[in-house]
Amino acid sequence: MKKKNAGSKPFLTDVKALRDRARKNIGEGGVSFTYKGNVDKAIEILQTVLATEIVCVLRYTMHAVAATGISSEGVKAEFAQHAKEEQEHMSAVAERINQLGGKPDFNPSGLASRAASEYGDAGNLVEMIKENLIAERIAIDHYRELIRYFGDRDPGTRTMLEGILVVEEEHANDMHDLLVAHEGKPMLRK
Ligand SMILES: [Fe+2]
Ligand SMILES: [Fe+2]
Repeated sequence: MKKKNAGSKPFLTDVKALRDRARKNIGEGGVSFTYKGNVDKAIEILQTVLATEIVCVLRYTMHAVAATGISSEGVKAEFAQHAKEEQEHMSAVAERINQLGGKPDFNPSGLASRAASEYGDAGNLVEMIKENLIAERIAIDHYRELIRYFGDRDPGTRTMLEGILVVEEEHANDMHDLLVAHEGKPMLRK
């Protein structure tokens, strides 16, 4: 059968070309020929995501320990659960930086300024919940932008961030529910 678009570039690369390409430059690991992103830029962005997640681990862990007062037990458990999930995000992002050929930056020096979210300085339970809600909202906005940036330049990183985003949205919702339970009204709705 005669091909209609003979000469035009096929949408899919044939298997032989894929195999040949994959054998070349194996030192680059997962960053293969079809990677359309700027690897250095991706690593730089992911270092800020890593710092954001580390700060979230620290803040939730501190809150899980320091929360006191009436009905704080359930809230402490929620904070501890979030700390665990932030730690999973932290590890996933660090792994991704490594896959892209970078070195995940866990250096405590300068951590707060590399992160998008803040560590906070909450005194009481309600302030802690509010700080966490604000931090989650910052992370959500930040990650939505990054997901758009990575688009089809780097679907692997984008998919990882999409998975993290869904959990951050749940976290924000959990904090919002706690706030309503403790204050009787949502605090951040205009
Ligand atoms: Fe997170
Ligand atoms: Fe979160």
